[in-house]
Amino acid sequence: MDARLNFPNQTAGADIPPGIDLLAEINRLRKEKNAVILAHYYQEPQIQDLADFVGDSLDLSRKAAATDADVIVFCGVKFMAEVAKILSPQKTVVLPDLKAGCSLEDSCPPEAFAKFRAAHPDHIALTYINCSAEVKALSDIIVTSSSAEHILSQLPADQKIIFAPDRHLGGYLARKTGRDMLLWEGSCIVHENFSEQELIKLKAEHPDAPVAAHPECPAHILDHADYVGSTRGILEYAMASDADTILVATEPNIIHQMQREAPGKTFIGVPGADGQCNCNMCPFMALNTLEKLYLCLRDLTPQIEVPEDVRVKAAQSLQRMLDMAPKAPGQGDVGKIPG
Ligand code: 13P
Ligand code: SF4
Repeated sequence: MDARLNFPNQTAGADIPPGIDLLAEINRLRKEKNAVILAHYYQEPQIQDLADFVGDSLDLSRKAAATDADVIVFCGVKFMAEVAKILSPQKTVVLPDLKAGCSLEDSCPPEAFAKFRAAHPDHIALTYINCSAEVKALSDIIVTSSSAEHILSQLPADQKIIFAPDRHLGGYLARKTGRDMLLWEGSCIVHENFSEQELIKLKAEHPDAPVAAHPECPAHILDHADYVGSTRGILEYAMASDADTILVATEPNIIHQMQREAPGKTFIGVPGADGQCNCNMCPFMALNTLEKLYLCLRDLTPQIEVPEDVRVKAAQSLQRMLDMAPKAPGQGDVGKIPG
């Protein structure tokens, strides 16, 4: 297993009064502090259930930009909470565990990205939202998996483009649109883990079940997919499909939301290389627990801070995303490569 998947268990349980009803306390505190709880689909089910809103990266960015709450409790990973702070600088933004990072962010250090950009001055940087605030500040337009293709289609055909940091999403977009983009060599340690062999076995066992996959998966997995899209896109596809069984190639916590919305259907997570689903749980997302959510709401720490010069530049590339992204949910999802 990748060494980065082994995180120490950091639950700060010692600071939690014994016998406390965590859910009741979270509900009391969220009212007292005028806080909104935003959660990504990869959070554990209990956190999804108590959140005010659960969504994909684009939806969560929009919610964070529009909220009138004083405090945003971001149950996701750090780059997502940073987006909330960049778009709503006057709000207090807290993340249950500051170590909730992302392998895509790690794969794209700002200094190396700045050099790469400088070496290609005639290219614009179209950058996936899974990156640091510093990399966003060095980019022209930010995209999410639910908006990338729609945004790409608005750029002139002869515009040279750098796409960072996800080589799988970038490769998928290049294959689907025929655009030749210069790809950064980053990847998601979770989506790289799906096993093609296991997927083929699963398809043979469930020949009528369509496969829905996230575009962070490598091409050998996406080639088997009937639908490719963001987390929300996958959810909506699963709801709209006539099939009663769906094979899901993304982080398995999303299945909780699918089961809530379509309890009569069967959702099967595509296994990883070990034949299990466990290696496809995002270890960064898993750092946020109910206990840490309670503590960060109570103590308003750890807070997300972004230096103002970085924030102002990152806000510009994010604003371009918000202006160019599809207006209606689901409208811009990448879908299936034709043919
Ligand atoms: P979505 O924008 O599809 O929610 O993706 C975020 C992410 O980190 C997937 O790994
Ligand atoms: Fe990052 Fe992958 Fe986790 Fe998404 S699933 S937050 S891309 S490590």
